[in-house]
Amino acid sequence: MTKPIIIAPSILSADFARLGAEVAAIDRAGADWIHCDVMDGHFVPNITFGPDVLKAIRPHTDKLFDVHLMVAPVDPYIEAFARAGADLITIHVEAGPHPHRTLQAIRALGKKAGIALNPGTPESAIAYLLDSVDLVLCMTVNPGFGGQAFIPEVCDKIARIKAMIGDRPIAIEIDGGCTPATAPLVVAAGASVLVAGSAAFRGGEGAYAGNIAAIRKAAEGARGGWV
Ligand code: DX5
Ligand code: ZN
Repeated sequence: MTKPIIIAPSILSADFARLGAEVAAIDRAGADWIHCDVMDGHFVPNITFGPDVLKAIRPHTDKLFDVHLMVAPVDPYIEAFARAGADLITIHVEAGPHPHRTLQAIRALGKKAGIALNPGTPESAIAYLLDSVDLVLCMTVNPGFGGQAFIPEVCDKIARIKAMIGDRPIAIEIDGGCTPATAPLVVAAGASVLVAGSAAFRGGEGAYAGNIAAIRKAAEGARGGWV
């Protein structure tokens, strides 16, 4: 069955000085999920925020918190993010030797589990993790910063992952460089969850609803009968 398109604005591109209000504004503007980018300055060359910030913004929306952990080692922090209000916790397959164990820990906490792949990581890295995940995140930029250019070679990998997933109830998410121009490419390849940072938050609060609608329209326009 065709999965609905989900638009997940990344608060990495929000005004951090007014984060609660920004989360409420992007919710009102039509965000389906709220994408929260956690960076540790070690696995990726940037630092963002931790579980206390997540907990502080949690009361400002009822939308699903999609927490993308760019953290290594990640195991010591899973429970804190679960308690802070994460609904879906995604870890990187490159971030440690035991992703299967970490995914089991996420599910044991009652949360949905996701596995992310950097652009240079082949799909074979997650072949034996598929029964432990609810979502596969294909990075369409190298993680660490918003506003980077989309890497089109990842589309081929998305199509391969779609085939690997088969009829399992697993969504494919993309993250990085998503715009109305690139959204159709990833949706045609099999993605249904689109993270957008700069393309969602550009232009100030009055522009958010139009930004999200434009991405959604472009994504839905790319739908054929087979995705
Ligand atoms: C990158 C982050 C992304 C980022 C996307 O490391 O994981 O979620 O915010 O930003 P844009 O949409 O601007 O490429
Ligand atoms: Zn992200």
